[in-house]
Amino acid sequence: MQTIGRRTFMSQALVGCAAALALRSASAADACVEILLGEPIGTISPDLYGHFTEHIGGVIYDGIWVGENSKIPNIGGIRKELVEQMRKIKPAVVRWPGGCFADSYNWRDGTGPRAERPCRTNFWVADKDLWDAPDGPQKYEPNQFGTNEFARFCRLMGAEPYIAANVRSLTAWDLDEWVEYCNAPADATTLSRQRAAAGDREPFGVRYWGVGNESWGCGGNFTPEEYATHFRQFTAWVPGYGVDLKFIGSGPNSGDLQWTRGFFAKLTERDKDFLRTVYGWALHYYCGTTGKGSAIDFTLEDWYELLKRADRMESFITGHWAAMGEIDAEHRVKLIVDEWGAWHRQGTEVHPAYLFGQMPTLRDALISAITLDTFNRHADKVAMANVAQLINNLHCLFLAREEKFVSTTNFHVFDMYAAHYNAKSLRTVISAPPVGYQYEGKPGSLWGLAGSASLREKQAVLTIVNPHASQARDTEIVLRGAAVRSGRAKTLTASDIHAHNTFDQPHAVEPKEADIAASGAKFAYNFPPASVTRLTLQLL
Ligand code: AHR
Repeated sequence: MQTIGRRTFMSQALVGCAAALALRSASAADACVEILLGEPIGTISPDLYGHFTEHIGGVIYDGIWVGENSKIPNIGGIRKELVEQMRKIKPAVVRWPGGCFADSYNWRDGTGPRAERPCRTNFWVADKDLWDAPDGPQKYEPNQFGTNEFARFCRLMGAEPYIAANVRSLTAWDLDEWVEYCNAPADATTLSRQRAAAGDREPFGVRYWGVGNESWGCGGNFTPEEYATHFRQFTAWVPGYGVDLKFIGSGPNSGDLQWTRGFFAKLTERDKDFLRTVYGWALHYYCGTTGKGSAIDFTLEDWYELLKRADRMESFITGHWAAMGEIDAEHRVKLIVDEWGAWHRQGTEVHPAYLFGQMPTLRDALISAITLDTFNRHADKVAMANVAQLINNLHCLFLAREEKFVSTTNFHVFDMYAAHYNAKSLRTVISAPPVGYQYEGKPGSLWGLAGSASLREKQAVLTIVNPHASQARDTEIVLRGAAVRSGRAKTLTASDIHAHNTFDQPHAVEPKEADIAASGAKFAYNFPPASVTRLTLQLL
């Protein structure tokens, strides 16, 4: 990277975003992106691009687990095509077994010879008032996919396991034993011998342990104070077997600051040092849906309003971070967003049994990009995030039904954004005319462009969302502290905002990549409407 002197810096400052936009009438650009190479925020951990797999609908059975004797290509029962696609995006971490399912799950049911495992009623069996589906593994859990299978799935993809323990209906002792089953040395204990008998002699070395899930709701209906007491109890003196266990607390729903404040106050009432027992505080935020339709049936107003709702992630992160800082002034505890995504109405499932199996469109791709950019911008605060969920469910990356398999628009965003892995997040100033719209008779407004930038050695990566459904955005891109030698753009967009990939049209929405005319400390770029763009810039 070129180092620039004061004279050059000053002349660049004059062409920064404010100046560029002040001179708008004299230039073609109506927007500006200014990347500040001298202002690193933090390293973008690949853990920010983590995943979530729950025993719900068609996620585990059919989505991941097809069985060793299936005609569907598999690796020891695990869907081969899923593993191959996941390897492309190098997933760092996968959360399992829930979600709400976790607080009704006895991990012992998923161990031992598969033919002898018990069949149990799944948390999501529900009833006709909520949803109904044919009988099957989604209602009556066959426990064919348990701890060993999950650990192998992670190993096949090169990801670390993140296991959520049951706090609502099991004890601290059960957590201790689950850790022992996973991490005790080969042949050392009865449980590690059981693990070996199931085919895995070597320990799994599981570091990440969730202490319950949504403990304010399906995970026990606790008050934050009650939950803090359980957290202290569950995390006290758990044998580590040489593994640095990282416990994750069941954090707030969206903007519930009372849950965050109540937990931190109670946790530390005896001693502030209990903060060291919390690796991460897990926020959940689903931006929901808009309009009356399903995932693929929405109006232009629904498009803008949902993108705006996705953008609330920013204020949830900064709000909870500030609330945590009231007690944890040194910010020993980081945020973890272990469930996020859109949650649309039913109607696009690839099978009626696949609860929440919604079909992602271009709109969901923009939601993914908005959210991942938010995590990048807060790389100093967020230690991990897990999109909900991997396959056949909310905001998924893949859809599968027996032999059929397709990568969704969300997968393509994760693939594009992997270029940020382990790079330094850079402060980036973006100016663009906001987009105005009407939603349910009221005026709404959304920023004109948003994104994030990062730097690794001599490569800068800029990812940008243009939410405007029909207007491209002529943009001046300014690098403060470096100059560009060459660049490439990868763009995900479609002429129809409802565009999505299906089994019949798996390539309907795919990114396109090309060289761009980029050189020096500033250049012009035109961001197409309704798009996610990644600019990869090689620096001098
Ligand atoms: O992802 C679906 C469900 O949403 C999860 O089980 C739960 O944690 C959340 O409410």
